[in-house]
Amino acid sequence: MIEWTKNLSVGNQKMDEQHIGLLKLIQYLEKSSDFGVSDEELDTVISELVNYTEQHLREEEEYLKSIGYPDFDKHVALHKFFIKRVNSFFAQFLANERNVDKEVLKFLGDWFLNHIKVEDKQYAIYSEKLTGNLSYPT
Ligand SMILES: [Fe+2]
Ligand SMILES: [Fe+2]
Repeated sequence: MIEWTKNLSVGNQKMDEQHIGLLKLIQYLEKSSDFGVSDEELDTVISELVNYTEQHLREEEEYLKSIGYPDFDKHVALHKFFIKRVNSFFAQFLANERNVDKEVLKFLGDWFLNHIKVEDKQYAIYSEKLTGNLSYPT
């Protein structure tokens, strides 16, 4: 089970909240087969996952631009890869009688968690150096 913990904080409240929101959506989908969720609900949650992913990555990129993050291009390329994978998960879901592919979902969850831990953490360290504030636990 993927879960947000304090050590995943990137020192920016808005980004942290979006990370938490996205992980919660993935978590919900992971468990959805256990509590007999309706097709309609599943549609809603998966569309939300797609939209919220795009929104988060876009807003994070805006944030990185605003702080002059040096590895911006590399970071955007990683986001693009992830958006592609989320969109193909969505397409698969629609083509596959609304069955959630657990393996793909697990890949997405692991990828995103790892992205926060490794890549997003880099901009957290960078912005902390900028401001001189240690605003997240190490
Ligand atoms: Fe992020
Ligand atoms: Fe990111």
